[in-house]
Amino acid sequence: MLTDYDCAVALWKTVAGVEICEGDSREEIEAYLRRNPGLSRVAEENGVMAGAVLCGHDGRRGWLYHLAVARQFRRRGVGRLLLADCVSALRSAGIRRAIVLVGGDNSLGHEFWLQNGWENIDALALTFNLSGRTESASRLPLQERSRESSAPEPSSPKV
Ligand SMILES: CC(C)(COP(=O)(O)OP(=O)(O)OC[C@H]1O[C@@H](n2cnc3c(N)ncnc32)[C@H](O)[C@@H]1OP(=O)(O)O)[C@@H](O)C(=O)NCCC(=O)NCCS
Repeated sequence: MLTDYDCAVALWKTVAGVEICEGDSREEIEAYLRRNPGLSRVAEENGVMAGAVLCGHDGRRGWLYHLAVARQFRRRGVGRLLLADCVSALRSAGIRRAIVLVGGDNSLGHEFWLQNGWENIDALALTFNLSGRTESASRLPLQERSRESSAPEPSSPKV
């Protein structure tokens, strides 16, 4: 709920492995929650926020962002619980596969996902800043066909 916004941002700011960025302002999170009702979660103990996660889907894949548990609550199953709740909500929404992006240097976060049944996919994550300059991606030079044809057959990650 949006009433949890300040506490969640305060938590995200304290943990390594989560970065507050575009899309995380109050207005943007409000729009995200409205678009993905009932999917994101917070965990509290005695009025203190122990953990938080953003969860949504685009109609095809589920996406999880910013899963974080405050240090003093770690290794007590809070992260696992938040994750299980999100997965169950996505499943109820008819979504069959979910994705999370983990920073390449976040070995702790990576281990958490692996230990909880998530699989590595052999894919590169790319991003494009839509709020920046106006040149469109279509201006990028097209790959030469000859280079494409001589390259080994690419694999297809499950994304
Ligand atoms: C990753 C994180 C959310 C885990 O939260 P947590 O509440 O401590 O995790 P849980 O107690 O639910 O752990 C569930 C299982 O995950 C695995 N796990 C959790 N933390 C782990 C760690 N530091 N190293 C290895 N495995 C870990 C274990 O298998 C654990 O089960 P066990 O305690 O019975 O061995 C928490 O460490 C965190 O906030 N990290 C910083 C933010 C981050 O990196 N988020 C992921 C962004 S992609």
